[in-house]
Amino acid sequence: MNSVTEKTLGTDVLAAKAPDDASAIDRVLVLEMVRVTEAAAVAAAQLIGRGDEKAADAAAVEAMRRAFDTLYMDGTVVIGEGERDEAPMLYIGEKVGGAPGKGPRIDIALDPLEGTTITAKAGPNALAVLAAAEEGGLLNAPDVYMDKLAVGPGLPADVIDLAKSPTENVEAVASAKGCAAADINVCVLDRPRHADLIAELRALGCGVYLIGDGDVAGVIAVTDQDTGIDMYMGQGGAPEGVLAAAALRCVGGQFNGRLVFRNDDEKARARKWGIEDLNRIYKLEDLAKSDCIFAATGVTSGSLLDGVKRRKTPTGATIMSTDSVVMRASSGTVRWIKGEHRIEDHKS
Ligand code: FBP
Repeated sequence: MNSVTEKTLGTDVLAAKAPDDASAIDRVLVLEMVRVTEAAAVAAAQLIGRGDEKAADAAAVEAMRRAFDTLYMDGTVVIGEGERDEAPMLYIGEKVGGAPGKGPRIDIALDPLEGTTITAKAGPNALAVLAAAEEGGLLNAPDVYMDKLAVGPGLPADVIDLAKSPTENVEAVASAKGCAAADINVCVLDRPRHADLIAELRALGCGVYLIGDGDVAGVIAVTDQDTGIDMYMGQGGAPEGVLAAAALRCVGGQFNGRLVFRNDDEKARARKWGIEDLNRIYKLEDLAKSDCIFAATGVTSGSLLDGVKRRKTPTGATIMSTDSVVMRASSGTVRWIKGEHRIEDHKS
C-alpha cells in the first residue's frame, strides 16, 4: 500500500494568510483549492479499475477532508456527501478548514469523487471537484435530480430556456450559431429516462453524445470547442448541477436547472433547505450567486483533464502526476496546473 506524503499537501498554508482587506475568497488563497482536489484525486486514483465504488469514494472523501484542514478558512459544506446521518465525513453543514471561528467564512460545494462508477470501471471523465464562494454564495441544493440545459459562451443572452421543448432550444441555438439543427451536437447521460429526449434530438438530426456518468464534465464540455459539443441536456444530480454552474459562471456559458422530485420525501428535503418554489427554473446566477472558485483534478482522463498517472523514478520513488484546473468568476482567470506527488511505500 502507498500513501500520499504530507509534503504534497503543504502544511505551511495555514501561515499564508492574505491581507485583511482582501475578499473572503482571496483570503482562502484560490490556488490552494487545487491542493484539496489533488489530494482527493490521488487517493481515488489508487482504486481505479478495482471495481469498488465505495472504497474509491471513501479514499477521496478522507483525503479531501484532511486537505481542507490545511487551509486558513472557516468553511461550511453546503453541498457534500449527504446529510449528517448518512455521511460520516463532508456531510452538509460540516465545518471544514484549519481556522474555525477565525478565518474567512466560506461555503463549499464538493464532490470528492464525481464518477464513482467510472473510477471503479476505469472509464473516462472522473473528477475530484469543488466550488467555493463567500457565505450564502451557492444554492444549497438537495440531493435530488435536476433537469439541466447548458450552452457555452458567446451566444445571445437567454438563448436557452428550460420551459421550452428540446426542439425549440436546439433550433434557437442553431439559429444563434448560424447553422442547421442537424449540425448541433448534444451531450446527454445514457439513461432509460432520456429515451424520449434522445429520440427527439435524433429526429432533428442532432449528434447525441451519450455519456455513461459524470455530467459535471459533460456540462463543462459545452464551453470547449474542441469537444464539438454545443449543448448539454437531461436529468442528473442537483449537487452536480450547482458544481457545473459554478464552473460555467467562471468561464462563461448559460445554464438552466430545475429540481426534479420523485416523491414527497424529496420535496420535504428541498423545503428543509429553504426552497419554496419547487418548479423554479434556476439560472447560473441563482446557483452560483456571487464570485466563486471552481477547482477540479482529473482522476481518470477525459474531455476536461488528464487522469492521475503513476510512474517510478530511477531511484525507485513512486510519483503520481495530476492535471487540475482552477477558475475564478470575478476575474475570469482559468489556471491549468500540473502536479507531481511523491508516494512513499510503506516498509511493512
Ligand atoms: P456519482 O459519482 O455519485 O456516482 O455520480 C455520477 C453521476 O453520473 C453524476 O455525474 C450524475 O449527475 C448522476 O450520477 C446521475 O445520476 P444517476 O446515475 O442516478 O442517473
